[in-house]
Amino acid sequence: MDNKVVVITGGASGMGAAMATDFIQRGAKVAVFDLNSKKAALLEQSIGSQSFAYYQIDVTNKAAIETATQKVEQQFGKLTSWVNSAGVSKMVPFLESSEALWDKTIAVNLKATFLCCQVAITHMLVNGGGEILNMSSLSGKKPSSWQTVYCASKFGVQGLTQSIAKEFADQRIRVNSICPGIVPTEMWEDLKYQYAKKRSLQPDQVMDYFKKNIPMHRLVNIEDVINAAVFLLTDNSSYLTGQSINLVGGEWMD
Ligand SMILES: NC(=O)c1ccc[n+]([C@@H]2O[C@H](COP(=O)([O-])OP(=O)(O)OC[C@H]3O[C@@H](n4cnc5c(N)ncnc54)[C@H](O)[C@@H]3O)[C@@H](O)[C@H]2O)c1
Repeated sequence: MDNKVVVITGGASGMGAAMATDFIQRGAKVAVFDLNSKKAALLEQSIGSQSFAYYQIDVTNKAAIETATQKVEQQFGKLTSWVNSAGVSKMVPFLESSEALWDKTIAVNLKATFLCCQVAITHMLVNGGGEILNMSSLSGKKPSSWQTVYCASKFGVQGLTQSIAKEFADQRIRVNSICPGIVPTEMWEDLKYQYAKKRSLQPDQVMDYFKKNIPMHRLVNIEDVINAAVFLLTDNSSYLTGQSINLVGGEWMD
């Protein structure tokens, strides 16, 4: 990934942090946009490279995204690639899902993806092209009880990805998504308690319960995510746009 200048939103934690670490090892320059400065500082320490930069911003704020992106270009050169990995998730019965939960989930998972794609594409058009990767989810394709709001946001990410891909396909800008099943990141620290409640399990039984129901009987490895992301952000996938890669061990095939 030499010559790549990549912004990763939500890159202080989980899949975003793993991608940041890996992309830098492959020669990229990576800027992380994330609210969590503590986690970002730990990541910066572990990466220990001048090819890493952190910007503490809320990705629902377009002006902040624009300013930070300009700074990234001043520091690292022309933006080539963008990963939208910032996200939030809660499992709540539909009738207990508050308006505040709706507003926050849609703002971070869907509106921020929309805003970041606008900023990224504005730069990529000037730069002669680029690749965008949106972190969707199996929940962007498969309905799930207690996850109405999250599913609505991720189904939205699918529509956004496909429509933007179509609009810019002839301008050397490719937009794709990844739809993982269960990736045991920090996101599951709280979610496993909520899922345990939904299924009347103990929290420490949750991951084994998932494994039993996945045809490959294992969860998503972070390497599965990295491999798909590297593929989608490089010329190995040069004829792919508006597509999604299901990382679900055979659980879903559309
Ligand atoms: N973990 C899974 O099982 C799973 C499965 C499918 C899809 N996903 C999606 O993949 C993406 C990454 O998930 P993860 O498991 O790495 O999550 P994570 O919780 O480990 O990381 C999410 C990051 O987003 C940041 N963030 C949240 N709101 C923000 C905001 N307003 N502005 C800036 N940063 C913000 C958080 O600070 C955090 O660092 C998310 O979009 C998630 O919905 C996760």
